[in-house]
Parts: sequence; structure tokens; C-alpha cells
Amino acid sequence: MTPEFGPDEVESFRSIVGRRLGLDFEDTKLGFLADVLSRRVRSSDRGCGIYLRRLESGPAKDEIAALAQELTVAETYFFRNIDQFRALAEVGLPDRMRAQAARRRLRLLSAGCASGEEAYSLAILVRENVPDAAWDVSILGIDVNPAMLERAARARFSAWALRETPSEVKQRWFRSDGRDLVLDDAARTSVKFEERNLNENEVELWEPGAYDVVFCRNVIMYFTPESAQALIGRIARTLAPGGYLFLGHAETLRGLSQDFHLRHTHGTFYYQRRSRLHAPHQEPSPGRSQYAPPAPASLTAVVEGSDTWVEAIRRASERIQAITRTPSQPLSPRTGLAAPRPRSDLGQVLDLFHRERFRDALELVRALPPDSAKDPDVLLVHAVLLTHSGRISEAEETCRKLLEMDELNAGAHYLLALCREGAGDRSGAIDHDQVAVYLDPGFAMPRLHLGLLARKASDRQTERRELSQALLLLQREDASRLLLFGGGFGREALIALCQAEIVAAGGNP
Ligand SMILES: C[S@@+](CC[C@H](N)C(=O)[O-])C[C@H]1O[C@@H](n2cnc3c(N)ncnc32)[C@H](O)[C@@H]1O
Repeated sequence: MTPEFGPDEVESFRSIVGRRLGLDFEDTKLGFLADVLSRRVRSSDRGCGIYLRRLESGPAKDEIAALAQELTVAETYFFRNIDQFRALAEVGLPDRMRAQAARRRLRLLSAGCASGEEAYSLAILVRENVPDAAWDVSILGIDVNPAMLERAARARFSAWALRETPSEVKQRWFRSDGRDLVLDDAARTSVKFEERNLNENEVELWEPGAYDVVFCRNVIMYFTPESAQALIGRIARTLAPGGYLFLGHAETLRGLSQDFHLRHTHGTFYYQRRSRLHAPHQEPSPGRSQYAPPAPASLTAVVEGSDTWVEAIRRASERIQAITRTPSQPLSPRTGLAAPRPRSDLGQVLDLFHRERFRDALELVRALPPDSAKDPDVLLVHAVLLTHSGRISEAEETCRKLLEMDELNAGAHYLLALCREGAGDRSGAIDHDQVAVYLDPGFAMPRLHLGLLARKASDRQTERRELSQALLLLQREDASRLLLFGGGFGREALIALCQAEIVAAGGNP
């Protein structure tokens, strides 16, 4: 018999699952949720209404475990994203050993450990890098799915689970048993596993300052924004100041936390807890205008005639100003606009910016009350205006002020990439573009800039790859963001530039 329920019950199920497990399901997953709900209601021997009420209100630990088995993704393998393990071995671990030299104690947490490969990879790494037996090292793996934890406890794995494991590590730490590979006891016994729900604020699990390193990879990508933010808050508290957090390679703390410094080494990203924790952070957002400026006639010509992209932006800005300024347009505060009012003036600044009146907009920013210098939106717009005016060192200084407030601001990193290129620091430019891409994978401009930087280095492969990515992203890039960061060029002009450059680099747009 199929349990009786309709779309409203499936919707309730979705929101209860979000509240209890933290998991987020898009509309496209409603059919899947209906199937799961149907199975769970049937096995509960109750009606759907009673099942949902119990799930909502009761402790229902067994039911949460059963749901976790149905609803979570448990994909994992040893040394997944191996660059992060290198960064931990060469940066994080030595640093934490210095910090813990007096106690000689290290604590590591694998949060969302699935069948244990991540926690055991940490155990192997620690064994290989902390050879002194006087150190007390322990690793805890936690997950809400008991079936995965049972597999973890067996410490037997298929060859597939070791597909990214260096062969010498495989030889040292595993022995074959039939088709399985069995982990050495020395690594196995340094890991403990516990069934825990990361969406619950369990006091004894999240003890303040308890951990040196937390791996929480490929977990928050499945969480609702509220649950992800709450979980990161708990992780920030449970990490010692200066402790390290590793997320999955497609996950960032952007918009979730201001409690960490972003670290970028070994071709990967990770985080280090600040010495003091901040209050919850609100994402700054630039104005949402649908206005698109007229594109200059030939962007390719402007780019060809410029040494750097930032130079191209400056030349285009000057050209647009010359074209668009008319004597009848009202000028800046000094020449007639209303006296500045604290926050709403950013709207006026943006309006002048939209009309390509960069100098007037800069004057207006300078006339804002001193408090505005602490507003991330104002700083970002100010930095954009300075970049358009070719005032690179001031733009850089403004970006750095902004990053002191909001280290994960992708726009500031992109502008810094332009500034670094302007200062002749190519590797600094690439680094900031890569940070911007990592923080916001949908951001087209740093991709485009990486492509242009590669072109100058005659690295055709990177040029084609980055420009092709930029081309894809430009088609759906937010209009207001294009306006702010497009360097005065419209969507169509930037798309045409990418297409022309890809062809010139021997590719197909
Ligand atoms: C994709 S796996 C990631 C495994 C490993 N961290 C990695 O990156 O290879 C995600 C794991 O998070 C667990 N998970 C999801 N929601 C959870 C929750 N609320 N509490 C604890 N674990 C959860 C799942 O059970 C699953 O094992």
C-alpha cells in the first residue's frame, strides 16, 4: 500500500529534514524526497501526519540515522584532494606542533567522515610527520550515518578507495587480504569514530578550543545556508585560535564566517582560525541595477593597445567619459548635487558610476561622512573607481582596507589582481585572481583576467581554458556585478573579446 500524502507533506518533510539534519534539497529533488518519505512512513506503521510530527518534535535518533542513510551522499576516498594533505603536513602540522610544544598534544576532527577514509588519511599523515612517540595525538571521526561508521570501524577498503593514495604510502600502511586492503593497526587505533549529528549543538562535542585541525569537507555543500553557518560557528569555537579548517575544494566560507583567515598554499585553499571570534557577518552586496553601459566600439582594439588589463580599463574609462559627458549633466557635490547623506549616497555614487562619470563619483565618495570608510560596499566601489582612474596604489590600499574587514571579498581580490598586474607583479595578480575564482566560482572577470595574463605569457592552453570558462560565466553573470567589475565594457563586448582571443589562441569558442 502506498502511504497517502501530497505536495504539502513532502514540503513539510523537506523543511523538517533541513531543521533536523541540516540538509538542503532543491525543488528538483522533491520527487526523490517523496519516495524517501513514502518508504519511511510505510516502515513507521503510522500515517504520514503522525510520522512528520514525531520527526519534528521527538528525539527520533534511530529515525534520523535511517534518514541519513537514505538522504546523504557518502562518496569519499583516501587522500582526497591530496594538496590539502600536503599543506597540512608542511604548514598546518608544524605550526600546530609549535603552538602545542608545551603540552605535546594534538587533536584532529574529521566532521562528516563517512566510511573513515579521511580520518585514516589524517592518521597516516600524522604518523609519518610526528614520529616522536612522546606526542599524544588523537583523531575523531564523526558522522550521522551509522552504516558508514560500521564500515569505517572495519578498516578494510577496496582498491578504488585508495585510487589517489601514493603507492609508497599504500605499501607502508596496507596489507592485502583477498580483494581488500586492510589498514595497519598503528594508524587504525589512533582514530575513534562516533555517531553524531553535525546539525546539533552538542556541548561535549563542540568543546571550545579543543581541536588543532578540523576537516569538514564536502559536507556544508549539502547544508542549508543557516545550518552551514551554524556548523561553521561551532567549528570556529571548537578550534583553538590558530587552528586549521579544511573544506571541500568546491566549498568556501564566503558569506558564512569572518572568523578565519584564508590560506592559499600548495595549489589549494584552507582556513586558519583568527585569534578572536567575530560577530555573525552580513554579506555586502553592491547595488542591483539592470543598467548596462554602452560598450566601446572595439574592446579587442583597446586591449591590444594596452600593456595590462587595468590599463585597458583606464583607457576605456577615459574614452567613455569623453563620449558621455555633456555640459547639461549636473555635476558632483561641489558643483550642484544634494549634500551627502550617510548611506544613501552610495546610491548616488553608483548612479554616477553607471553613467561613466568616474571622477564625479570619486569626488562624491570622498565627500561621504568619515564613517563610510568602514562600510565594505563603499570601500569596494571606491576601489573600483580608483582602478578606473588608473590610481592603482590608492586602489590597492583601499582593497587591503576592505580585506581587513572582509577577507573573503571576491571583488576586492579581483581588483587587487588588477593592481598587482599594474605594479608588474604577475604572480601576485594570478594569486589574487585564483583566490577570487575560489571564493566565487561564478565570477567571470577573474577568469577573463587569468586568460589575458596567460596570453601575455604565451601560455595558450591556460589562456584557452580560462577564457572558455569566462565565456560561459559571462552569459549568466549578474548585470550589476558586470557593471561594477566589467571595466566599463558590457556583456556583449566582453563575450566578443573572449571569443576573439580563444580563436587567436587556436581554440573554438
Ligand atoms: C560526501 S561525504 C564526505 C566525506 C569526507 N568528508 C570527504 O570529503 O571525502 C558527506 C558525509 O557527511 C555526512 N553528513 C551529512 N549530514 C550530516 C549531519 N547532519 N551530521 C553528520 N554527518 C553528516 C554524510 O553522512 C556523509 O558521510
